[in-house]
Amino acid sequence: MKLFVSEGNPHCLKVLAALEETGVQCDVQCVNHEEKVVPFLSHPALPALLLPSGQHLFSSDAICRYMFEVSGQESSELCNQWLEWEATDFQPALLQALHMAVLQGKGSEVPKVLQGPLNYLDQRLSKGITPYLTGEVVSVADIVLWAALYPVFSDSSLSLGEHKFVRAWFDRVTGMRSCKSAAQKVLQGKGLQGMKSYMQRQPAPQSSQCRDTHPCNSSPAESDEGERVVSEEEMGAAALAWNKGLNTCPFTTDRQHPILPQEGKRNILVTSALPYVNNVPHLGNIIGCVLSADVFSRYGRLRDWNLLFVCGTDEYGTATENKAREEGLTPQQICDKYHAIHSSIYKWFQIDFDFFGRTTTEKQTQISQNIFWRLHERGFLIEETVEQLRCENCKCFLADRFVEGTCPHCSYPEARGDQCDKCGRLINAVELGEPQCKVCRQTPVIRSSRHLFLDLPKLEAQLEQWLDKSTSAGDWTANAKQITRSWLRDGLKPRCITRDLRWGTPVPHPDFKEKVFYVWFDAPIGYLSITANYTDKWEKWWKNPHQVELYNFMAKDNVPFHSVVFPCSLLGAQDNYTLVNHLVATEYLNYEDTKFSKSRGVGVFGDMAKDTGIPSDVWRFYLLYLRPEGQDSAFSWADMAMKNNSELLNNLGNFINRAGMFVTKFFDGCVPAMELQQEDKKVLALVGWELQQYIQLMDKVKIRDALKHILNISRHGNQYIQVNEPWKKIKGGDAERLRAGTVTGVSVNVACLLSVMLFPYMPTVSQTIRDQFNAPNSCMNTMLQGTGTFVCVLSAGHRIGTVSPLFQKLEVDQIEALKKKFGGQQMTAQSAASTQSATMPAPAVAAEVAAVNGVDPEKAKQLTQAVAEQGDKVRVLKAQKAEKAVITAEVAQLLDLKKQLALAEGKSPEPAPQKGKKK
Ligand code: MF3
Ligand code: ZN
Repeated sequence: MKLFVSEGNPHCLKVLAALEETGVQCDVQCVNHEEKVVPFLSHPALPALLLPSGQHLFSSDAICRYMFEVSGQESSELCNQWLEWEATDFQPALLQALHMAVLQGKGSEVPKVLQGPLNYLDQRLSKGITPYLTGEVVSVADIVLWAALYPVFSDSSLSLGEHKFVRAWFDRVTGMRSCKSAAQKVLQGKGLQGMKSYMQRQPAPQSSQCRDTHPCNSSPAESDEGERVVSEEEMGAAALAWNKGLNTCPFTTDRQHPILPQEGKRNILVTSALPYVNNVPHLGNIIGCVLSADVFSRYGRLRDWNLLFVCGTDEYGTATENKAREEGLTPQQICDKYHAIHSSIYKWFQIDFDFFGRTTTEKQTQISQNIFWRLHERGFLIEETVEQLRCENCKCFLADRFVEGTCPHCSYPEARGDQCDKCGRLINAVELGEPQCKVCRQTPVIRSSRHLFLDLPKLEAQLEQWLDKSTSAGDWTANAKQITRSWLRDGLKPRCITRDLRWGTPVPHPDFKEKVFYVWFDAPIGYLSITANYTDKWEKWWKNPHQVELYNFMAKDNVPFHSVVFPCSLLGAQDNYTLVNHLVATEYLNYEDTKFSKSRGVGVFGDMAKDTGIPSDVWRFYLLYLRPEGQDSAFSWADMAMKNNSELLNNLGNFINRAGMFVTKFFDGCVPAMELQQEDKKVLALVGWELQQYIQLMDKVKIRDALKHILNISRHGNQYIQVNEPWKKIKGGDAERLRAGTVTGVSVNVACLLSVMLFPYMPTVSQTIRDQFNAPNSCMNTMLQGTGTFVCVLSAGHRIGTVSPLFQKLEVDQIEALKKKFGGQQMTAQSAASTQSATMPAPAVAAEVAAVNGVDPEKAKQLTQAVAEQGDKVRVLKAQKAEKAVITAEVAQLLDLKKQLALAEGKSPEPAPQKGKKK
């Protein structure tokens, strides 16, 4: 093993201290900061640890953890929590502090930046009874946190204030031989200045203006953002722009279909990952794909890009067959039913697709088979024999999820055919001990079957060449790049694209007549076939890489299929296909402190959102505010109420309403004459700046960050009104009345701008504002120029309409009731299986199994209530002779609830209805 470090690099403190503390055998080499030790990283990353396997670790925390593990000290849960805190809360503040102290000579401002985390640390330590963070002995958490603190804490010129408990712990750790020696090696007694040359090479941390968009600072409203200084020039420019007026070519919401690429335009094709048809999507699914893609599409249309947004349901595969069996329907019936459910959910969420299709269509068969033959002709498919389990009783090969048996690694008796939920290891189904068919519980036999594989190794070089270009020219999110890199790093292996199933696109090759394509081979082809169902000229979008820019929206578990496998299919088919230019992947959204879980009834699912009585726009707002952009985030009812009440009601809504009310009350509903003073010009400049930030961020698909700038504008607006007090000035002399008029006129124009910026996020509220102000359609052209100038669109004399409040308060008891209904914190301990990720951590699944099997009287009580309510709902619907699909969906939900109730009461749930036995 070899550890690479560099001088003056604070991250090396940790790893050297960890090395000495654990006594792990390892060579240490000191290199300069620019040295590229890890070959596949585009930036030098130090420290780095070369492992015996030839792989590298290059996160200092991971290296430390590794050393402790090698020396026999596994990190505990508490330890992990500290590491997490250090990485996500402490490091960002620390980096900023170091930047200020070392490079900007602003050591005096460091205490302010570090105060929050240090206070927290002090408080935590004050409650501890052990000498070290996690117990009686030093753990990796102590080393990591100590090393982070060391540069600032050992410098007495920074008056960090008294943190008694932190200080005592810090001195204790500093006294250890390992830490002393690491500090000497890295900083060489030069203190903070020893880090200067390292710091100079680091990108500047986010400035205080952007700090509020950092995910770890979740409440920008309360952030202590300092006033941005506006220069005279900026004010002058803002005042000039204000009078420019807007392009009159009106933005239109009724688009002419089919939309096709046009010469000389920016032609943008937006896709959202195709949701599986066998489930009702939950909030995490919605924010990850359709809602994000919708916001970006709406924004793109405001920018007058020639944009097409397509999506549809992903309908083939075992999961659908499975669901069909469960519900006693045919796969096609399941698809029809759930396609309708998805459509209506997305409609309620105002997802403005240009076309929402599905994958079970004739076009899908044609296009998939065409791509298949082209790959075949060009020698990119390999034939191989695979051993598989077959249930003679059910007369079918068993997909991995349909077999259960004993894990060959850990002997867990209920391992699935692809993975063991206990030890988490991947399994080849034929290796299972005592395998059982999950459907009929008979013992399957091993049969061999010929399959076709996509020859990824043969396409790898071409793929890498394309990836280099696409990822550097396009806007790929960091996780997308990283996941792709890690797939390539291990080298690609051939991937099986056929399955012994019935519900899928048939493989057209005569030797594989009984087989269908593996869903992940043909699902992405769904994007093409759905477009083909929208327009016969679909190839203008999909075989036109020079004219079209493709944006793919998805959650991160979908990344490798979109960045590696599918592009390989298209590259190998050699038909000038449009490949993804911008791959936009979100992290995961959790629910309260746990995960969404359909089986436990925890979380809000798409079809329930409307039953909460909370408007669709407010749901959109909160989901977008939380968008897991860069890191996971969590939905919380209490937080939703708080954001609704503070941001929407008190900030945004309040400002817009006040502006309108002033026009109505003081100026008889007509926008007054305006004469701009310094004060007004300053607000124009401030608002203009926020608008520019918004545009820049939206262009880069930073949807969550851009939203914060909308809220900043209304904050500026509220402050502007507050300071200028038009309600007082209106009662004064002429000059004062002119001031009141100017402030009112500017405010109502700011409000109008807000309505436009809100359009991608809250389309209904956006329209309501414009209706209330009687705003001309041309105001929707604000973003055409792309530079974001804030201009006067409601000029003096313009008559506005009737103004009324835009938002309603969410009351505590209302929220409490909702939280109860949908499950939440009470489930925390039983962290459960994710329905988002295919790679959930094994213990979580085991916990779910335990939780589901366990008798839970509290839950049973809630479920009894829920069953009764759902039963009533079904009866009402039936009495009303509601649409069949609607009734079926509600009945399904009722059965689901009953099943859960049975489990919670410790009874065995009723057997799933048999095929053909219609309910
Ligand atoms: N149905 C998949 C999921 O929900 C996504 C399919 S995306 C596509 O994870 F590219 F295959 F269409
Ligand atoms: Zn069977």
